[in-house]
Amino acid sequence: MEQQKRYGHFDDQHREYVITDPQTPWPWINYLGNEDFFSLISNTAGGYSFYKDAKFRRITRYRYNNVPMDNGGRYFYIKDGDTVWNPGWKPCKTPLDFYECRHGMSYTRITGKKNGVEASVLFFVPLKKWCEVQKLTLKNESNEVKNLKLFSFEEWCLWNAATDMENFQRNFSTGEVEIEGSTIYHKTEYRERRNHYAFYHVNAPIQGFDTDRETFVGLYNEFADPQAVMEGKPRNSHAHGWSPIASHYIEVALKPGESKDFVFLLGYIENEQDEKFEAPQVINKKKAHALIAELDTTEKVDKAFAELCALWDNLLNIYKVRTGNDKLDRMVNIWNQYQCMVTFNFSRSASFFESGVGRGMGFRDSNQDLVGFVHQIPPRARQRIIDIASTQFPDGGCYHQYQPLTKRGNNDIGGGFNDDPCWLIFGTVAYIKETGDFSILDEMVPFDNQPGTEVTLFEHLKISMNHVINNLGPHLLPLIGRADWNDCLNLNCFSWDPNESFQTTENVSEGTKAESLMIAGLFVVTGKDYVALCRKLGKDDEAERMQKAVDAMIAAVKKDGWDGEWYLRAYDFYGRKIGSNENDEAKIFIESQGWCTMAEIGAEDGMVAKSLDSCKKYLECEHGMVLNNPAFSKYIYEYGEISSYPEGYKENAGIFCHNNPWVIIGETLAGRGNDAWSHYAKILPSYVEEKYQTLHKVEPYVNCQMVAGKDAFKPGEGKNSWLTGTAAWMWYTVSEFILGIKPDYDGIRIDPCLPETATDYTVSRKFREAEYEITIHPNGSQKGVKSIVLDGKPVDGTVIPYSAGKHVVDVTM
Ligand code: BGC
Ligand code: NOJ
Repeated sequence: MEQQKRYGHFDDQHREYVITDPQTPWPWINYLGNEDFFSLISNTAGGYSFYKDAKFRRITRYRYNNVPMDNGGRYFYIKDGDTVWNPGWKPCKTPLDFYECRHGMSYTRITGKKNGVEASVLFFVPLKKWCEVQKLTLKNESNEVKNLKLFSFEEWCLWNAATDMENFQRNFSTGEVEIEGSTIYHKTEYRERRNHYAFYHVNAPIQGFDTDRETFVGLYNEFADPQAVMEGKPRNSHAHGWSPIASHYIEVALKPGESKDFVFLLGYIENEQDEKFEAPQVINKKKAHALIAELDTTEKVDKAFAELCALWDNLLNIYKVRTGNDKLDRMVNIWNQYQCMVTFNFSRSASFFESGVGRGMGFRDSNQDLVGFVHQIPPRARQRIIDIASTQFPDGGCYHQYQPLTKRGNNDIGGGFNDDPCWLIFGTVAYIKETGDFSILDEMVPFDNQPGTEVTLFEHLKISMNHVINNLGPHLLPLIGRADWNDCLNLNCFSWDPNESFQTTENVSEGTKAESLMIAGLFVVTGKDYVALCRKLGKDDEAERMQKAVDAMIAAVKKDGWDGEWYLRAYDFYGRKIGSNENDEAKIFIESQGWCTMAEIGAEDGMVAKSLDSCKKYLECEHGMVLNNPAFSKYIYEYGEISSYPEGYKENAGIFCHNNPWVIIGETLAGRGNDAWSHYAKILPSYVEEKYQTLHKVEPYVNCQMVAGKDAFKPGEGKNSWLTGTAAWMWYTVSEFILGIKPDYDGIRIDPCLPETATDYTVSRKFREAEYEITIHPNGSQKGVKSIVLDGKPVDGTVIPYSAGKHVVDVTM
């Protein structure tokens, strides 16, 4: 194997990934902010900020897919004599004497050194505050006095990130700013309907500023050589239209050994309609002043940072494992949980692959994300469930996405994805099992956000199940609708028009026979959960009704969903098989293997074992399991988007990491710990990090949505990092099914499934008002708990009954 260049390493003690070369194979980013105010930041300080919604409240501008890549960000220019440099190397790209970027839990610290000066910037969003802090520390490590000229830089986005990129006939005339002391205010459109403005402040006197981009940069210059900076002279420009920016100019004298801190603050403010102005056309700055006052000293900033770190200490103390395998422990204890929080916050909206304008919160995505997050902050998961359910229609169908700002269903995307409703059960059950809070089921939740239509959340779950039952096809399998989990299996969409999006184009639903085996498996898994929930609630009639539907689905799968060695994937519009040995290409698909093995359909007849073996035989490769095999080599118009992708990419035989865990869980349920582990380790970032930093290309500390599959030009190359259901599924898989610590209604179920080589390990798990210290002795066994001792007393079965307080649990397999 070719030796791969390394760009960084894990620092587990600080929970950081340390990047030591700014020229990573792709920008390696981090996320700041936990609730309302968010930022994306790359290892060279590129990226942008927004409030709640990356489309409608974009605060700073960013240029996607630009040249150079990763263009736009918060840049500090340091002019030291004739040398101009940035702590994060970009945009000047002046060679640095030292560079380091530490991405941590909701913060990033970038340090550069040049000619005896160290510049270190700590970026974070303080808890419950609508701002990004940039604490810059300049230190003179040389023996001479340094007279530095410091320029800050942010470029404002005109709020709506979509129109900001297209409507220039308007945009170039609307921009407005105000300057007051060391604060630059961005107030475009505040004069009319907007009730919000932004500001960029520094807690030191400034000797100049700029707010007009072309004046500062120069029309024929670039971010790499803004003319004001190169000449060391701010222009004190006041933007009227065109492109407003914010740049402070500060002269900094440092004696040998001396260091100075500057707190820069990028803030967002909303005012009530009747309190918008303090004088005609002058914005009311009261709230901005108050926010600035909360963070105007190093001490205050350090305290806010300590609070943020304490939050992460608490969050990551809820589930902690010690196995002695660093690569496993760091993913379970740090990065996987961190990525789960990020995906919960963003769904699929804003990353370096998602522009933040195309997609809101996905119905299925958010339900899955919350399964990775619910143990961290259950009340937020609770709210999310209500928000999601509120976008449902009375027949159980739902909007595929909704906007975080308005929480309303997105009409452009619409609905009709027939797997969507099932995920509401998946998310809600996970929430109740974690918290024991059954009261959520009594919450009154509207349809399509219409006041007056409220029914209980339980009723929403019921109609979700019914939606599947009411939409069965000729084989009594679920009709697929627009698509199931695989957005690109568009069996009712027939398109020869390249101007149509497969995702939104008109579907033919009249006369369709297109059925999904993936939804069948999903229905059985969530149906069993629903039945158990009904029993728990004493709704026995409803439990029985649904059990019958589940049994019928199992029978239908066994009868018409089995291909001999694996589960079929689907039937097409005309009722022909997809994912069958009879097909020329794409004979086997992963999704139905995952869901039908998780549902254990036909386990007694050997179907599960055969399906899992087929995954190994036909789907597995060095980098994980591909989605289908063989890849489609040509466009099949009856199938929609799936075959539009070149072989080995995305939904056409890419390693779609999201669905690998489904098969892995299938393996664990079947007790095949060695196989489960080997599939898992293949897509576990820390293992990939060790071997393939260059090939993998994207961040080595998080999962990406897709790794190019075996049929691709470059197998193993990752894409679409961060915002993927993979995060939650990796978490669910390892925490509950491999390490085997599974929240249940009445306690914690212990049922690990491990490779034979596993040694003793301990999980500390906070659960409701209890804290468990659980030690597992695998004794070379892959599955099967022999005995559990709770606080010195043997327990019957595999569930430790819940009781508040501290407990010690000893498990022998
Ligand atoms: C992608 C899918 C995605 C869908 C909706 C497709 O082009 O391949 O992964 O979910 O678009 O945005
Ligand atoms: C990405 C989408 O966000 C997710 O909902 C979907 O299931 C996968 N793509 C597979 O198509």
